Amino acid sequence: MPIDLKKIETEALENIEAAESSDNLESLRVKYLGRKSEISGYLRTVKDLDADDRAEAGEEVNRIKKNLKKAFEGKSKELREKEVSEKMTKERIDISAPGKKIKEGSLHPITQALRDVRRIFNSMGFYIVEGPEAETDFYNFDALNIPKEHPSRDLMDTFWIKKEEGMDNYLLRTHTSPMQIRFMEKHNPPFRIVVPGRVFRHEATDATHEIQFYQVEGLMVDKNVSLAHLKGVLTHFLSEFFKKDVEIKFHQSHFPFTEPSVEVFMKLKGKWIEIAGAGMVHPNVFKAVKYNPPGPDDWQGFAFGIGVDRLVMIRHNIDDVRLLYGGDLRFLEQF
Ligand code: FA5
Repeated sequence: MPIDLKKIETEALENIEAAESSDNLESLRVKYLGRKSEISGYLRTVKDLDADDRAEAGEEVNRIKKNLKKAFEGKSKELREKEVSEKMTKERIDISAPGKKIKEGSLHPITQALRDVRRIFNSMGFYIVEGPEAETDFYNFDALNIPKEHPSRDLMDTFWIKKEEGMDNYLLRTHTSPMQIRFMEKHNPPFRIVVPGRVFRHEATDATHEIQFYQVEGLMVDKNVSLAHLKGVLTHFLSEFFKKDVEIKFHQSHFPFTEPSVEVFMKLKGKWIEIAGAGMVHPNVFKAVKYNPPGPDDWQGFAFGIGVDRLVMIRHNIDDVRLLYGGDLRFLEQF
């Protein structure tokens, strides 16, 4: 035989046994069994031998190859197990290592305010109800005693939704007052509710006006309800909200769904700031929801609509309402 197969086999088996890593083993496999190995080179010459020698040589090469393969497989399994266990030991969790700091988020200042609104009114016995943001013109205007040609429909420049054949006229509600009607249609007095929610107006934006903002509607209907109760409820709410004694005053105003109507001002650093519209529920609104006919025992109610964004701006000293909707993290991370 031109090459010493036995010597190659012995040397290979020794090297396999001594291999220290899977990579190391793989290069040995290429060296001894690969296409360019001595054994493969020899195998290619076997065909040129005499018939007898050919059979013998072929058999011997195959025996060696089989033997080496078995040795490789055994060693490979052993090395892999060793490597996995080493890796696990190395990556074991070090419970004494300092942790990675998780960046904590926070609630949007409007969300925080709305939670306070719910909590405070709830503590005064008000139910919290919510209504649809897409409303019909019946609930947003008609049932609230706002006639077709009334200027407040123009004042509240509105996002109208394209009308489909046979459908009601839909719009994005311009205030939370439609929920007064929806609630009274289904419930009889006495009751007190607040309706927090988003409203929309198609207007030019500036530091104090957004096209979307939040209101909280209030409605209390009972016997002998008066503007004095309204003032008490609002003063208590605002004092709780701002965590200090708050002074408010009413200015005469006009809303078609209240009579009399007032604008609510709050005193802040010596200045009076308008924060809500309010008044006593107009008899036509009670008529629209089929409450009592006129009489000495009539239901009475007060209603209000507070601008939640204004409260948030006062609370955090924010001078531009648009910051609340910009989604700028540099702004939001401050709360
Ligand atoms: C109304 O929307 C009435 N529905 C309020 C009401 C309810 C009156 C119940 C009587 C009875 P007004 O348009 O004034 O009223 O809005 C109420 C409050 O919403 C305002 O005082 C103000 O704080 C806030 N507001 C109004 N327009 C905007 C705006 N574009 N951006 C931010 N806040 C606004």
